[in-house]
Amino acid sequence: MSQHVAIAGATGAVGTEFLKLLEARDFPMKSLRLLASSRSAGSKLKFRGENLEVEELTPKSFKGIDIAFFSAGGSRSKEFAPHAVDSGAVVIDNSSAFRMDEKVPLVVPEINPKQAFEHQGLIANPNCSTIQMVVALNPIHRAANIQRVVVSTYQAVSGAGASAMEELKQQLRAWANDEPMKQEVFPTQIAFNLFPHIDVFQDNGYTKEEMKMVHETRKIMNAPNMQISATCVRVPVLRAHSEAVWVETEKPLSESEARELFEKEPGIVVQDERESGGYPTPWHITETQETYVGRIRKDISHPNGLTFWVVADQLYKGAALNAIQIAEVLQQG
Ligand SMILES: NC(=O)c1ccc[n+]([C@@H]2O[C@H](COP(=O)([O-])OP(=O)(O)OC[C@H]3O[C@@H](n4cnc5c(N)ncnc54)[C@H](OP(=O)(O)O)[C@@H]3O)[C@@H](O)[C@H]2O)c1
Repeated sequence: MSQHVAIAGATGAVGTEFLKLLEARDFPMKSLRLLASSRSAGSKLKFRGENLEVEELTPKSFKGIDIAFFSAGGSRSKEFAPHAVDSGAVVIDNSSAFRMDEKVPLVVPEINPKQAFEHQGLIANPNCSTIQMVVALNPIHRAANIQRVVVSTYQAVSGAGASAMEELKQQLRAWANDEPMKQEVFPTQIAFNLFPHIDVFQDNGYTKEEMKMVHETRKIMNAPNMQISATCVRVPVLRAHSEAVWVETEKPLSESEARELFEKEPGIVVQDERESGGYPTPWHITETQETYVGRIRKDISHPNGLTFWVVADQLYKGAALNAIQIAEVLQQG
């Protein structure tokens, strides 16, 4: 089924990846409308060999649109997604605006594809760190019932958008040229540094990004009692998030059982050789569509503990790719 498609936020870090992936996956489309702020209106982006003009996002942008991918920030989603739904489009939203709304399905196609069909016009795409973690947790949970998860993330600057990527590049160039570094996007210097602060602090001492990983994981995996604690760290990597994940299962799992579960799981690639380079790194898996798992081992501090390393391109699987996969689920019926 070929459809009329719109991308709200087409010029951003996620938006431009939508263009690449819609083309690479040969997504069936009758037309594509590119939307962004008035700053970008009139600029052109290449798609399937043609230069498409970017239009300003307005309430009227969605006339005749069947599927609207939103990646223009939460406030734009709150303002414009209802207009898209009223025009008859199905909205697949990358922001956090609707993720915890009970009426809005939160979908990772490897885990809960059927929920996509329960939408009332809006489907939410989960947080980028959450998506790659749940893809890895899912086979372990099915086999051995995960009781508890402790995760530390190592998140790329592109998770904070195109301007954040520019900030890292500018700081590196400035350092090399002995010039002053600019700091406008991040709360502190990111070049040659890292910081445990993604999104705003909450009353319980966690950040909002950390609490998204808790609430969204429970919703996607339908596991309201899963105990989860996250520490989210921004690192000077341009693209692809990494995570050190520790899980405690109800039923003990051996290392080889866990490895086999990961190997059989669609969407996961196991890269787990105990030698230099025998594990996934963000640089090496950039612009790939799978979730990579390595460093699989039994936890020596707990009989039911297992620990592993998860890396995925968060602009792909953590954002644009997952959203397109949701649209593909809907198209395939
Ligand atoms: N980056 C990630 O890894 C990631 C992962 C998952 C989800 N997300 C979510 O995806 C959304 C976009 O993130 P991003 O990283 O792509 O950000 P970004 O690089 O800053 O891009 C933002 C996009 O939104 C557009 N925009 C901003 N203000 C607008 C307005 N007033 N009206 C219309 N369009 C407007 C921008 O257009 P202009 O170019 O015209 O300013 C641009 O296309 C956010 O909600 C983010 O939380 C991001």
